[in-house]
Amino acid sequence: MEQKRTTALPPEAELERQMEFIQQIRKENEAYTAKTGRQKKFYSLAMGCQMNAHDSEKLEGMLDEMGYVRTDEETDADFIIYNTCCVRENAELKVYGKLGWLKHYKKENPDAVVALCGCMMQQDSVLQTIRQKYRHVDLVFGTFNLYKLPELMKTREESKSTVFDIWQEHQEVVEDLPSIRHFPYKASVNIMFGCNNFCSYCIVPYVRGRERSRNPEDILEEIKKLVADGVKEVMLLGQNVNSYGKTLENPITFAQFLRQVNEIEGLERIRFMTSHPKDMSDELIAAMKDCDKVCKNLHLPFQSGSSEILKKMNRHYTKEGYLELVRKVKEAMPDITLSTDIIVGFPGETEEDFLETLDVIRQVRYCTAFTFIYSKRTGTPAATMENQVPEDVVKERFGRMLDVLNPIVHEVTQEQVGKVLPVLVEECSKQDAGILTGRTEQNTLVHFAGDATLIGQIVPVKITENKTFYVIGERM
Ligand code: 5AD
Ligand code: SF4
Repeated sequence: MEQKRTTALPPEAELERQMEFIQQIRKENEAYTAKTGRQKKFYSLAMGCQMNAHDSEKLEGMLDEMGYVRTDEETDADFIIYNTCCVRENAELKVYGKLGWLKHYKKENPDAVVALCGCMMQQDSVLQTIRQKYRHVDLVFGTFNLYKLPELMKTREESKSTVFDIWQEHQEVVEDLPSIRHFPYKASVNIMFGCNNFCSYCIVPYVRGRERSRNPEDILEEIKKLVADGVKEVMLLGQNVNSYGKTLENPITFAQFLRQVNEIEGLERIRFMTSHPKDMSDELIAAMKDCDKVCKNLHLPFQSGSSEILKKMNRHYTKEGYLELVRKVKEAMPDITLSTDIIVGFPGETEEDFLETLDVIRQVRYCTAFTFIYSKRTGTPAATMENQVPEDVVKERFGRMLDVLNPIVHEVTQEQVGKVLPVLVEECSKQDAGILTGRTEQNTLVHFAGDATLIGQIVPVKITENKTFYVIGERM
């Protein structure tokens, strides 16, 4: 069945309404536990980017309030929720694989409830496939109405048929949803939603809607609450944080906002992502430099080193412009590390274009890079461009890129060896409880011997050994 929209309510009333559904479900779950001696369990999987991971924290918070307990075993769950991604085809194939498996699971466990949400669900072709081939799915909703999970669960319970509730655009921001943070000492905070950039390969603007910023007061309030709850580090999230605040009633620049966040007492570290090179201003570079809490690590995707390809990607900068920007950033903050996203095999990419990409990697010297093979996304302009690059050529280029990139990552990491760096201790190693893991300001993952009482503290660690993608250290 199609769920009717509830758009008339202001956000506070909407939150109240969902909290009522949560209480109703909680009572039912308590009655179930009283009868069976067993507590219902949920399994939650977030695919894709940090935005989805953060959305899942809210879904999990609501499920927790409903009286479900988390399980890490899908085969043990009464409620299964996949928060899907559609940025690349692989992510979608993974969901379909899981849905195939779930068909059998639901046969054996007919009371189990399966929910799908997130970016992939914003595409009509996907909804059609689910309607036709995966009728065992119970709940389907998208990126704009995540807060409606409790209501949709109730609707499903009453209707006994699949509930689809997909909105085409964003309505109100419902603040203060319950949430379970994946880490106690670091937290993600959405500062804006959606994207207006329409990079020609990217599906995100179609599934996450137009750019809209949250009010600075609401964000600052949220961060203060997090800090009061023990959080030391925040990651400010948005598809394009550099254009934060432009469309607010009282416009503010991201640089101005960063300075406000830097003033929050008790907060120790600030990170943000993702930055678009076209919007990275001198004002922001200055704010990064001035704000002592802002980590000197910048994620600055360049996607391709070829100005020709960048134009076709609709990125609005050239290779030279990007390199000049990096020069300014490094000049202002000599100890900064940079990470990036790179796409190989965009339509029309020639060997010369690809060599330009390798040249940028060599010149900038990244501490990490997220590397992707171009994936054709139906509905984007690039999907119908001529000269799609043959798979074998792309794979060969991808291998060559890693051969250039990995030694550079190793060398950049090597620069940290011998230094004593402050590390925010995050958790005990899963393999060895005597080993702690944490991150430096530069975002390097550090393993070092220590006990769990240090978790949540920022401690000085001497970096002793370079393992390319992480380092070993000794507590000083
Ligand atoms: N194919 C491959 N990579 C993509 N990205 C976005 N869309 C695609 C696509 N169609 C990559 C970009 C972006 C990151 C989040 O995902 O590099 O920065
Ligand atoms: Fe996609 Fe470009 Fe928007 Fe990033 S900036 S989400 S790559 S359209």
